[in-house]
Amino acid sequence: MDKNNIAAIVFDAYGTLFNIASLDAKLSHYFGSDAKPLAQLWRRKQLEYTWLRSMMNRYKDFINLTEDALLYASKKLGLSFKDAIKQDLIDTYYKLDTYPEVGEALQLLHSQYQLAILSNGNIELLKGSTQHNGIHGHFAAIYSADTIQQYKPLPFVYQLPVDGLKVSKSKILFVSTNTWDVAGAKSFGMNVAWIKRDPLNVTEELGFEPDLIIEDLMQLNYQLATSAY
Ligand code: LAC
Repeated sequence: MDKNNIAAIVFDAYGTLFNIASLDAKLSHYFGSDAKPLAQLWRRKQLEYTWLRSMMNRYKDFINLTEDALLYASKKLGLSFKDAIKQDLIDTYYKLDTYPEVGEALQLLHSQYQLAILSNGNIELLKGSTQHNGIHGHFAAIYSADTIQQYKPLPFVYQLPVDGLKVSKSKILFVSTNTWDVAGAKSFGMNVAWIKRDPLNVTEELGFEPDLIIEDLMQLNYQLATSAY
């Protein structure tokens, strides 16, 4: 990857900019010791449903699919809860917290590059969390898979910022924590930085490796500012 050839940086949202663990306090309050298994199964099913619905050609938008994933996870774990609790959890998806370094890192990167978000999330979800964290001003655009009713890692989704920003894929650096998303964006032809937030995580065996591996977004800023790779 030629760092001098990067014109725009496009970020995945959940797990990359926004920390889904923002839900943990509420989940613990409502479900006690069942909160951790519920959170893990909920996220796994949310991702699985995006892949399955894409393969079935039966699109459902991310927030409603996320609600379905919560219903599956609670059913599997034998947990029942009032609609008000479900709504409180779903409402929290509109105001997830960023990881600690995100605001500062985006401020630095914004001075050098066009920035955008590309996510499976609905636009209103993404606008909600960017405004909740005061980072919306850093982005030239927010692209949602909902626009074309297909989910990542289908190539058509990664095409959205190419068309929207009018920047060739070879000049875009895509940033994600999600290893399947890293492989999808690399397969599509973008340059890719993997944020390895979990030190125990490993890349997928899909034949598409990231160009950069970083621990957080501040390291991205450093790596792009130096010839450290
Ligand atoms: C997204 C999820 C998949 O933001 O992280 O698209």
